[in-house]
Amino acid sequence: METNLEFNKAAFFKDLGYEPHPGQLEVHRSTAKRRVMACGVRWGKTVCAAMEGLAAAMEPNERSMGWVVAPTYDLADRVFREIVLHVAAHLRHRIVMLKEYERRLVLRNLGGGLSEIRAKSADNPVSLLGEGLDWVIVDEAARMKPAIWEQHLSQRLLDRQGWALLISTPKGKGFFYDLFRKGQSGDPDHRSWNLPTSSNPLLDKATIEAERERVPDRVFRQEYQAEFIEGSGAVFHNVRECATGVWKPPEEGIRYYAGLDLAKVEDWTVLVIMNKDREVVFCDRFQRLDWQLQVNRIVGSLKRYNKAQVWCDVTGVGDPVYELLKKEGCNVQPYPFTQKSKAALVDSLSMAMEQGLITLPKAELWPEGLEELESFQYSITEAGTVRSSAPSGYHDDVVMALALALWEIRPSKPKHAFTVVQL
Ligand SMILES: Nc1ncnc2c1ncn2[C@@H]1O[C@H](COP(=O)(O)OP(=O)(O)OP(=O)(O)O)[C@@H](O)[C@H]1O
Ligand SMILES: [Mg+2]
Repeated sequence: METNLEFNKAAFFKDLGYEPHPGQLEVHRSTAKRRVMACGVRWGKTVCAAMEGLAAAMEPNERSMGWVVAPTYDLADRVFREIVLHVAAHLRHRIVMLKEYERRLVLRNLGGGLSEIRAKSADNPVSLLGEGLDWVIVDEAARMKPAIWEQHLSQRLLDRQGWALLISTPKGKGFFYDLFRKGQSGDPDHRSWNLPTSSNPLLDKATIEAERERVPDRVFRQEYQAEFIEGSGAVFHNVRECATGVWKPPEEGIRYYAGLDLAKVEDWTVLVIMNKDREVVFCDRFQRLDWQLQVNRIVGSLKRYNKAQVWCDVTGVGDPVYELLKKEGCNVQPYPFTQKSKAALVDSLSMAMEQGLITLPKAELWPEGLEELESFQYSITEAGTVRSSAPSGYHDDVVMALALALWEIRPSKPKHAFTVVQL
């Protein structure tokens, strides 16, 4: 059910200096009551939804009420801020009230009536009670609990026959996937789009291709190709296939590379040593030893393996241990742990495993190591970024030590940032 743009949405967008790309244009043109955009990262989902919300608010109406909802306030703010930016730049004279801390904007619409836009967080369901809505935009919808949509939001739309626009990169096959499927079924009230990041003509294609090299295949397929992949939580996929090796004693004239993750509160200290062919030849894992004893034990292993070079976590307790290792004459490199630097480690390990460029000891030799690798999960942070970690109750020290051991001899992988290019 497509119609021409009403109240001349196209002219309105032009006045604001917004030129939707072809994919966004399709979304703006659809008049389906339920629209679902399951598109890749950086596709332009947030911008498209924000402009759709703003257009709805400006349409002539006596009164209208629209919500922007996301799993957290930070995420809801992204759409809301995009709206506020456009209003501040082009529609300042239309502002009746703007309370950014309340995430509330009231505009005088083109019919002289009042239109209100509010941003809400799904992690505060109490705030989702109450009013009837003319429209709702849900950002990062696939990361939201289904009950929020089913019991809160869709109800709000009934009285006033409002519309909903749900946007997200795919994630598993939950309620967002079901809604997406409905949109593909020919049902006139539902419409959905599934487009990869590469269909945003404003992005540099080479950069997207470089990301394909950089991130694990399943992540690329989900995040950039916008595929709904089942069980996409596991980070390391080839664990058993890589586990064909054995522990090996040091050999003369061979260079070795080590990674050291130090026990924090209740973890273990783990030292992993690899040879230049990326075979794990040695692992030591111990708990609750006094620091000097730990250092002696580590130094002993490193020396045996031809004074292996070691990358060492230097956060917290790591720093004094790093200094002690240096004093003992070890070839030690500092690796400060941050969320970002840990992600880089995990990415490179995951890539190496996916491409079969690393050999782990067989399952019977290293059961705890393989188990830890297999249980490592992707999760979504509060800010909506992808993060990987051990699920609660599991440790991540083997993963980190292994990734640090690989760091010096990791398969090359340039890091790229996205840039929006002008057509
Ligand atoms: N039609 C457009 N014209 C100009 N720039 C655009 C357009 N659409 C999107 N952009 C720009 O492209 C970038 C990505 O857009 P946006 O944040 O909307 O994507 P997204 O799909 O929501 O991304 P994410 O997956 O990171 O949430 C932003 O810098 C945005 O300003
Ligand atoms: Mg977005």
